[in-house]
Amino acid sequence: MKKVITFGTFDLFHIGHLNILKRAAELGDYLIVGVSTDKLNYDKKGRNPIYCQNSRAEIIQALKFVDEVFFEESLEKKRDYILKYKADILVMGNDWEGRFDEFQDVCEVGYLQRTPSISTTEIIEIIKE
Ligand code: CTP
Repeated sequence: MKKVITFGTFDLFHIGHLNILKRAAELGDYLIVGVSTDKLNYDKKGRNPIYCQNSRAEIIQALKFVDEVFFEESLEKKRDYILKYKADILVMGNDWEGRFDEFQDVCEVGYLQRTPSISTTEIIEIIKE
């Protein structure tokens, strides 16, 4: 069984999130998603997510092509998560191109084209306006 792992905040769930998760699932037989905790998101992006981590994780878990969800608590633990969940392939959007190549010694690493013209940041900006 080929296990795929991916990570993200997935705040204000949008079509870009759906597309990447669906395509990630197609690369294997079992999809595992690491959802950033609120604290990690704050450290990473300097703001709290709109939806709390439990809501974000519940939304992701409810998708029919997602098999397992866990909380990503630290960016430093990616290698540990890959090993713990026995992932065969790490998939990320191409905004992260090259950033995870260091894990090629423990799994395959792939980057998928981002869906154009949509992001959580942009949605927040549009609503603010
Ligand atoms: N993603 C994508 N296409 C988009 C937006 C996101 O493929 N248009 C992917 C990212 O590359 C990542 C995953 O979805 O692999 C989770 O990204 P996340 O950072 O949670 O979403 P963004 O919308 O990019 O959020 P932000 O604007 O806060 O960075």
